[in-house]
Amino acid sequence: MKKKVLAVVLASTMALALAACGGQAAATSAPAEPAAPAAVEEAPAEEPAPAEEAAPAEEAAPAEDAGGDLISVGFAQVGHESDWRTASTKSAQDVFSEANGYNLSFVDCDNDSAAQLEAVRSFIEQDVDYIIIDPIVSTGWDTVLGECEEAGIPVIVIDRTIDDSDKYVSWVGSDFLTEGKAAGEWLKAYADAQGIKEINALIIQGTTGSSAQIGRTDGFCEVADREGWTVLDKQTGDFTEAGGQEVMESFCKSYAGKFNVVVCENDNEAFGAMTAMDNAGVTYGPGNDVILISYDACTAGLKEVQAGKITADFECNPLAAPTVEQVIKTLQSGGTPEAQILVPDNWYALKDQIVPFSVDGNAMSMTEVTDAVIEAQY
Ligand code: AHR
Repeated sequence: MKKKVLAVVLASTMALALAACGGQAAATSAPAEPAAPAAVEEAPAEEPAPAEEAAPAEEAAPAEDAGGDLISVGFAQVGHESDWRTASTKSAQDVFSEANGYNLSFVDCDNDSAAQLEAVRSFIEQDVDYIIIDPIVSTGWDTVLGECEEAGIPVIVIDRTIDDSDKYVSWVGSDFLTEGKAAGEWLKAYADAQGIKEINALIIQGTTGSSAQIGRTDGFCEVADREGWTVLDKQTGDFTEAGGQEVMESFCKSYAGKFNVVVCENDNEAFGAMTAMDNAGVTYGPGNDVILISYDACTAGLKEVQAGKITADFECNPLAAPTVEQVIKTLQSGGTPEAQILVPDNWYALKDQIVPFSVDGNAMSMTEVTDAVIEAQY
């Protein structure tokens, strides 16, 4: 299909698909059906299946365009700030390989929004068949997405959301608001079970303005406000270990002896916070001074849960690329992909920290961290 014709088809496809879902921005802040954690308590985690029927790339015939050429894909990746990001990049590189019928142009944008816009414009110049964007921040996208639309190049958003433009075909990722609420609701249930009457929390946030930061902060703070907890401070650690350590060092000085909960918005920040607390003589983990909550649940994070350091870890699944490939295959065959596809997440803790809780009236289950669970993780 010629690109200009495709542009017209895409414009109507996007309008129809987004209208059917009530609009991406609204769906992002309040997804119609949050993905409930799928794992059964104390059962080893199964390889998480994408929310939509998405056959793994290896099982499918190599994807090619109508002329039998490789399909060219540009991917503007956030950077390399975390274990999660490494897993996400590897997943995309595995799926969009030459063996699978793709020519992948991969750009690591090093957490620089200007570089990310530049990368997208370079993909337009290269006239790639598809552009994948993991948006560092959720705003500032409408102009460049308009340029993609004008060039007739379909854009698929992965992981973080774009909140100020609907000029893309599909978004595939996790529900960050539900992750934040799950952390808050688990803490409420756990504190009640432990007889902890007062919560004084510190939050080490992710990259400011990223939808992962916004959703997790809003979700947790919604529960904190409702329960009358004190959030002593929240500052960004930029989703990095160094950032987490730096923020925690300053928290340990400013709030010495005053906090009993630390929420890190990803595992790498938690590793940095652990170093800072070790240096300051603050103990953390089940039975210690501080309840340490983290997000991502990558292998290294789950090892810290098993070691009794992180008290509970709320997953953000980085393996969305196979589902993005299904979106591309649907477009290749002239179909209309879903406007938003949620990737399911699980919540993790050791057996004694698993307590029943609900999010928005939906009962959640947690997965006990075992060797097998860690082995199966990324
Ligand atoms: O957007 C997903 C978040 O970005 C992950 O939680 C974090 O580790 C990463 O940097």
